Amino acid sequence: MEKSKILIIGATGSLGYHLAEASLKFCHPTFALVRHSAFSHPHKAQKLHSLSLAGATLLKGSLEDETTIAEAVSLVDVVICAVSAKQSLLQKLLIRVIRQLGSIKRFIPSEFGSDPTRAHVSELDDLHNFYAPKIEIRRLLEAEGIPHTIISCNFFMRILLPSLAQPGLDAPPRDKVTIYGDGNTKGVFMKESDVAAFTINTVDDPRTLNKVLYLRPPGNVCSLNELVEMWEIKIAKKLERLHVSEGELLQKIKGTSYPANFEMLFIYSAFIKGDHTYFDIEPPSGVNGTQLYPHLKYTTISEFLDTLV
Ligand SMILES: NC(=O)c1ccc[n+]([C@@H]2O[C@H](COP(=O)([O-])OP(=O)(O)OC[C@H]3O[C@@H](n4cnc5c(N)ncnc54)[C@H](OP(=O)(O)O)[C@@H]3O)[C@@H](O)[C@H]2O)c1
Repeated sequence: MEKSKILIIGATGSLGYHLAEASLKFCHPTFALVRHSAFSHPHKAQKLHSLSLAGATLLKGSLEDETTIAEAVSLVDVVICAVSAKQSLLQKLLIRVIRQLGSIKRFIPSEFGSDPTRAHVSELDDLHNFYAPKIEIRRLLEAEGIPHTIISCNFFMRILLPSLAQPGLDAPPRDKVTIYGDGNTKGVFMKESDVAAFTINTVDDPRTLNKVLYLRPPGNVCSLNELVEMWEIKIAKKLERLHVSEGELLQKIKGTSYPANFEMLFIYSAFIKGDHTYFDIEPPSGVNGTQLYPHLKYTTISEFLDTLV
């Protein structure tokens, strides 16, 4: 089967760059819509140069400019957007253009986190405000009848895992560690390049059309207690455990303003409320990435921790 032509929006960003690389690796004709300013930014220009050398076609434009969006969208079969969470609603104009052109076989919106429709947000306005735009984009896609796939990958490994879920640290602790709640609720961590590989595998797959692809691979699902035990074995040392209850964590979150409470919010969501894992991946709307694509290799939590020892 001929590979779909893919447009990546956000290729100079963290996830978007991996998406563009994966699209090229899996031999899709690959296009990137890039803002003018990125070409004069040293690090972004380097990323663009490397994508261009690998065969990507770079198109100048912006999600805020209807003409450049329409030109780019008309060249491809699939659009993948990877703007940051705070830019989610910028996708509305893109969605309008996709509907008007009517030629796109699949749109993958910028979601790439835990499922916002499953998150426990009732006590916390900051979590609600983070997820609401992503839910709004999902509802818009459904209302407009745009063929889509949602990627629900849970945490990227660069979020919380380098500190063993210790807010404020950027390396794993070696003496004391704080466990939130009872420490038994499981969360999921995925390397961004692996998320990108799974994402690209969905684009021509009828099994993922209008579905949510959940990523929960074996080796990437673990509780705080399991995470600390894994780390203790790697550094051959027992850590002193401090405990923070759900109520104490909620108080700390509420006493800190967003986004400074960002890490605590996501610890609460994943490791207290179990937002990554409390529900089964069920048809008709949910599909399991590791079951659909067993051939894809991915980095496990243990392998990631090995790089930190
Ligand atoms: N699951 C997790 O743990 C996790 C963690 C982080 C992010 N995420 C999700 O991953 C997705 C991508 O986030 P990220 O952190 O990779 O984003 P990022 O690094 O901030 O990159 C954002 C990209 O969007 C581009 N962009 C911004 N405004 C644009 C516009 N008007 N027109 C065209 N391009 C525009 C930026 O281009 P410029 O170079 O021109 O600025 C950049 O390439 C989001 O959905 C986010 O919620 C998930």
